[in-house]
Amino acid sequence: MQIFRARVFDTPADPFAGGTLRSESDTALVVDSGRIVARTDFSTARERHPYAEVVDLRTGVLLPGFVDTHVHFPQIRAIGHLGRPLLDWLDQCALPEEAKLGDDAYARALAGEFLTGLTSAGTTSAMVFGSHFGSAVDILFAQAAEVGLRITTGLVTSDRNLPDILLTDVDRSVRESQELIDRWHGKGRLRFAVTPRFSFSAGPELLAAGGQLVADNPGIWVTSHLNENRDEVAGVAEIHPEASDYLDTYDRAGLLGRQTILAHNVHPTDRELGRMGEAGAAAAHCPTSNSALASGFFPLRRHLDAGVRVALGSDVGAGTGFSLLKEGVQAYFMQQLDPAGGVPLTSTHLLHLATSAGAGALGLDETVGDLSVGKRFDAVFVDPAAGQPLDVGLAHAESDEDALAKIFALGTPADLTRVWVDGDLVKG
Ligand code: GUN
Ligand code: ZN
Repeated sequence: MQIFRARVFDTPADPFAGGTLRSESDTALVVDSGRIVARTDFSTARERHPYAEVVDLRTGVLLPGFVDTHVHFPQIRAIGHLGRPLLDWLDQCALPEEAKLGDDAYARALAGEFLTGLTSAGTTSAMVFGSHFGSAVDILFAQAAEVGLRITTGLVTSDRNLPDILLTDVDRSVRESQELIDRWHGKGRLRFAVTPRFSFSAGPELLAAGGQLVADNPGIWVTSHLNENRDEVAGVAEIHPEASDYLDTYDRAGLLGRQTILAHNVHPTDRELGRMGEAGAAAAHCPTSNSALASGFFPLRRHLDAGVRVALGSDVGAGTGFSLLKEGVQAYFMQQLDPAGGVPLTSTHLLHLATSAGAGALGLDETVGDLSVGKRFDAVFVDPAAGQPLDVGLAHAESDEDALAKIFALGTPADLTRVWVDGDLVKG
């Protein structure tokens, strides 16, 4: 048993529905076998648990572990290419790198680098876009199990419009996916997601095969891309004359539900938003990627009005890194700048988007997302070195909300000195 003594910020109540920041300056979280069993003042906790180890975190701020709802495993070495729209960026930057993952040694090296990217940035749960190669997905699952992160991922599938080496067919995609499901889904903190790359590279039969996997394996997840770029949207309409719009390509294949996360959705129609809200599918908002590829402004207001759940994704490697602090502040910038009128976001909204909203999108809201009694202890310790700008900022913050805004504005992975999943350190 451990007592974590800290200044704690979290968002158990949705700020888009009137919730406010929960901030406590000297709280004790009592953790037993990875679970928070009490949250009280320190002297009470000490009295009740005199033999528990005390972890004194009063030099910084403790936050819930971050939840990244969209991040690509094969793209860690492709981060940082600027100046291309989506389809050119895929052809010239991302796909040549993804083609290398057929080599197991390469995939092993990348999996290590990728998981380090997540833990360094304080990400404790993620919906990970896997690889087109089943062996590489298997390697990722195995390494994620060792590190201990909560990872949902799967075999990426496509049957057109990509380099030949990345293509599959219905039979092969079902066989390889089922093998991975049998091996990994529900093992520890791991889960499988059916992952058609996007309807620009997947025809109706391949999408329907994914829907059949969902029907045959209740509990598995679905992830893909949606309405990211205008040329992509036009291409999808040509490839899928049977569908009424982009979302309908997934819906008619049986891929749309509460266990579906669709990335981007920068250019949705009202019908699509209404249907996503009705189906309970979540949108992964990836603001640095939307900026880097000039995909456009994410219509957050329209998502909220349609009752669509929204959380943050880093979208590595079109996104510029693993930091959900950076994604949060970029989301804020873009809402400020949106000529159509964005949602004014506070630091409390940003923390919610990076933690509890992501947990909700991933169906982990009973488990993680805030630091309430009954949740697992997935947490990030923000503890900048003395004299660093964030340290100075925290020392002079005018309120807890202001301190949190400084964490988003100034915080980098270097300031996140310790990260826990289920009470076990994964960084620090
Ligand atoms: N659409 C299809 N594949 C990708 C990808 O790898 N990154 C992004 N941002 N969009 C995509
Ligand atoms: Zn993506």
